Amino acid sequence: MCGGVIVRRFFKDKRTREKCRIFQMLCAQKKGKHLSFHTPGHKQKGFDITELSYSDNLACPRGCIAQAEREIAEILGAKKSFILTDGSTSGVFSMLQAAKTLGVKKLFLIEPVHESVYNACAVLGLNPLSTENGADAVLCTSPDYYGNIVNLGELRALCDREGKLLLVDGAHGGHLHFDKNLYAGAYADFWVDGVHKSLPALTQGAVVSARTEKQDSALFEAVKLFRTTSPSYPIMASVEYAVKYPRNENLEKLVKEYAFTQERVCIQADWTKLCARVGKSAFEAEKYLEKKGIYAEFCDGEVVCFYLSPATREREFKTLCRLLEKAFKKYPYEPVQRNPAPLVFKETAGEWIELTKSENRVCAANCGLFPPCTPLIKKGEKITKEKIDLLKQANNVYGLNEGKIYVYRENK
Ligand SMILES: Cc1ncc(COP(=O)(O)O)c(C=O)c1O
Repeated sequence: MCGGVIVRRFFKDKRTREKCRIFQMLCAQKKGKHLSFHTPGHKQKGFDITELSYSDNLACPRGCIAQAEREIAEILGAKKSFILTDGSTSGVFSMLQAAKTLGVKKLFLIEPVHESVYNACAVLGLNPLSTENGADAVLCTSPDYYGNIVNLGELRALCDREGKLLLVDGAHGGHLHFDKNLYAGAYADFWVDGVHKSLPALTQGAVVSARTEKQDSALFEAVKLFRTTSPSYPIMASVEYAVKYPRNENLEKLVKEYAFTQERVCIQADWTKLCARVGKSAFEAEKYLEKKGIYAEFCDGEVVCFYLSPATREREFKTLCRLLEKAFKKYPYEPVQRNPAPLVFKETAGEWIELTKSENRVCAANCGLFPPCTPLIKKGEKITKEKIDLLKQANNVYGLNEGKIYVYRENK
């Protein structure tokens, strides 16, 4: 057996791994003697190898990787799919670059949008718009962090009517290919499946896909710019395994039934995101659950969000339900008031100041909770005490620097 611990932990399902081309290649190599005079420098034989005569090459695949990518594309309903070992971030950059080579300059972003999209727009010189007027492509996140799924049929019709490209960031929707009504690949021109987030793939495993032949060649050129030239074989093998992993209908049913009967729990169209409405004590409840060994994906100060996948064990889900009920008793629901903050654009230079002293100043760079890594305070937004408190309480944040926030200088 190759790569002992990795195989036992991550490639558990025998029937699935038997269908996996990259996994099978990795296992087959164990048979002969192998002295490593090549990278990686750890010199261990087994799972973590490099491009060798028999291991194929992600940059220009002709063997097991080409076959895996073909089979992944077939499952996802794509003209062509590209395995990524650099996360959905490289998929987002690649699909935006491909769209750019097809003539896209202005992009209508439907919020919420992940930081990687804003970064890609900045790097590629694309103009992000908050309205569809004048845009030549539309980008949405589906599902979002709470499991809401965009009406992709409607967006497809709009894009067809107006000759726009439709791009979907499905970083959280890799498992939705089981249900083609909800799945990005049934509608989008380019889409990203962040398979590591909701399927049993190693962290950073993702796929980016194109719908037509013309788009496929634009995407082929684009992925070259944003993928590492040293892709991890364990990650590649895990992406193929994850896409071929079976649906878990028993668990789906159990989760839906639980959300239906529990007043303070809800799921949206995507069953893998279980949202517990805790209210004002959400961070305390999150800490309480951590003490009992339950770790959530994120807490937004009102809702604690738990992410499941087809690989979640039923008994672990039942433990979550039991402890959530205790948490609900301990923390009765108290609503959180949130006031939308107006955008105030400024032209002055920026400066870093203590977050605690930033109330009423105007933010000069997006920042927020991590995850979800979408802006809680946008560039140009007046900073409120409520949002300062949220950033102070969160386990992880982005866009801040050692407790400081970037704001526009005040005109003296
Ligand atoms: C909606 C969305 N898009 C893209 C990304 C980037 O994905 P990755 O972390 O796999 O690079 C994330 C990560 O959280 C995300 O939530």
